[in-house]
Amino acid sequence: MYEQKDGYYRMAKKEGYKSRASYKLIQLNKKFNIIKKGYSVLDLGAAPGGWVQIASKLVGEDGLVVGVDLKLVKEKYDNSYFIQGDVFENSTVENIKEIKETFDTIISDLAPNTSGIRSLDHQRSIDLCYRALELSSKFLEYKGNLLIKVFQGEDIKKLVDDIKNEFYYVKISKPESSRSSSRETYIICKGYKKRKLKIEDTELSEESA
Ligand SMILES: C[S@@+](CC[C@H](N)C(=O)[O-])C[C@H]1O[C@@H](n2cnc3c(N)ncnc32)[C@H](O)[C@@H]1O
Repeated sequence: MYEQKDGYYRMAKKEGYKSRASYKLIQLNKKFNIIKKGYSVLDLGAAPGGWVQIASKLVGEDGLVVGVDLKLVKEKYDNSYFIQGDVFENSTVENIKEIKETFDTIISDLAPNTSGIRSLDHQRSIDLCYRALELSSKFLEYKGNLLIKVFQGEDIKKLVDDIKNEFYYVKISKPESSRSSSRETYIICKGYKKRKLKIEDTELSEESA
């Protein structure tokens, strides 16, 4: 396991990537092709900026990447913007909207601060996944793609069932670069149906109806 960690760490340094997290997006995109040249991408939970760097390369000069995180991302690229804010706040939604109203792909590597209590961390991760789903109802194009990280646990099945109502194609995949000891996995969703969410809330789902 440590050998593998060192391998990705060395590779990231050599290839000028920020961290091993960069390889997770590279590997998932190679397999599922969710980000293409010219796409607009919303990156939720973007700090310290590994995925912004990869996504901005993948979309190229005609594309756009908007990163959002509680923490600051310092690096900027010609085709990228960064918003510091909480994904649950309306002000963050408004700030995203000022830059771009809809996106071809949303990627969410959102993760809670881990407490060490597995069930609590899982529940917080699930809450972040539902928020990413809710923001999709606001920002994702019809037939757009969504990639979400989730910490494994008992509520994944319900989450995946809910996602299947919203997307034509849903797969779970753990990239090779994700440590086998990590409980994270990724849900790849393609072909957004763009219809009203059944989550009880909110202004967001009503607006998008
Ligand atoms: C695993 S890191 C993301 C790594 C990133 N994909 C990269 O490649 O550099 C998870 C991020 O989610 C962010 N996060 C967690 N809860 C958030 C929230 N409510 N609003 C915005 N960002 C949040 C954390 O601040 C953290 O930076």
